[in-house]
Amino acid sequence: KLEEGLRPQRFADYIGQKDLKTVLEIAIKAAKGRGETMDHLLLYGPPGLGKTTMALILAAEMGTTCKITAAPSLERPRDIVGLLVSLKPGEILFIDEIHRLTRMAEELLYPAMEDFRVEIAIGKGQSARTRSLPLSPFTLVGATTRVGSLTSPLRDRFGLIHRLHFYEPEELTEIVLRSADLLKTPIDREGAEEIAGRSRGTPRIANRLLKRVRDYTQVKNLGKIDRKIADEALEVFNVDPRGLDWTDRKVLSVMIDNFKGGPVGIETIASATGEDVQTIEEVYEPYLMQIGFMLRTPRGRMVTPAAWQHMGYK
Ligand code: ADE
Repeated sequence: KLEEGLRPQRFADYIGQKDLKTVLEIAIKAAKGRGETMDHLLLYGPPGLGKTTMALILAAEMGTTCKITAAPSLERPRDIVGLLVSLKPGEILFIDEIHRLTRMAEELLYPAMEDFRVEIAIGKGQSARTRSLPLSPFTLVGATTRVGSLTSPLRDRFGLIHRLHFYEPEELTEIVLRSADLLKTPIDREGAEEIAGRSRGTPRIANRLLKRVRDYTQVKNLGKIDRKIADEALEVFNVDPRGLDWTDRKVLSVMIDNFKGGPVGIETIASATGEDVQTIEEVYEPYLMQIGFMLRTPRGRMVTPAAWQHMGYK
């Protein structure tokens, strides 16, 4: 997958998230110095900011490998037990969407995280026993878009808890330039800035838009991507100058046209846009709030004057 090829593989190539990098570099050095595994790490924040990438880099820097999974595929006890017993010493286990673990999976995870052992049930009914199997020491990296949905016993078992932030425009520009270089796509800095500015603070989106602009440029035989070409292409792909797509704009226009800007309940916004509440809360709202287009109030969501203006109202 292309996205895989664009992922930085070491800290030295990872742009942005400076605080997180600093914390992890210290944790890695210390763990290596002691010859131990690093503490379990919980990463949270909106999608596309590099949580999986961070787990892969951690593995590379620790000189180990990373097993990647997501909570919904660990539904049955044997899924998680099988995974845990298969871990090699020092390996990283990445669990995405960790807030969605079943109660059973969570309870299997507690002793695994704390003492590197897993309790399995043997037999049924009267003769049922539990046995404790030792595991190889490992580091769990959990990722979630909603840290508030984690149970506190699970959250408490992570030694490092860190939030990923939206990227600054300059950081996204560097990411676009780096990705264009890897894709052997000619682009100038202004072209990269234009793509960065429409990427909602998110590298995954920046890379996706770069690919769309690259297609457009190639098909129209335009040569090197500059600001004008990027601008034209992104207009064709319905990405507006602030990076808002159809759903973002629908969220804002529903609130403005039907509710005079709010307050509006989240369920109302969800049904009007055809998205589910969770998607609105985790994908759309964070960026609209980040750029000051939307506010959360006790009575519901409200749009700001900046959003009215952006949508072409006074
Ligand atoms: N590609 C995607 N995310 C990146 C990042 N944070 N740094 C460099 N390249 C990236």
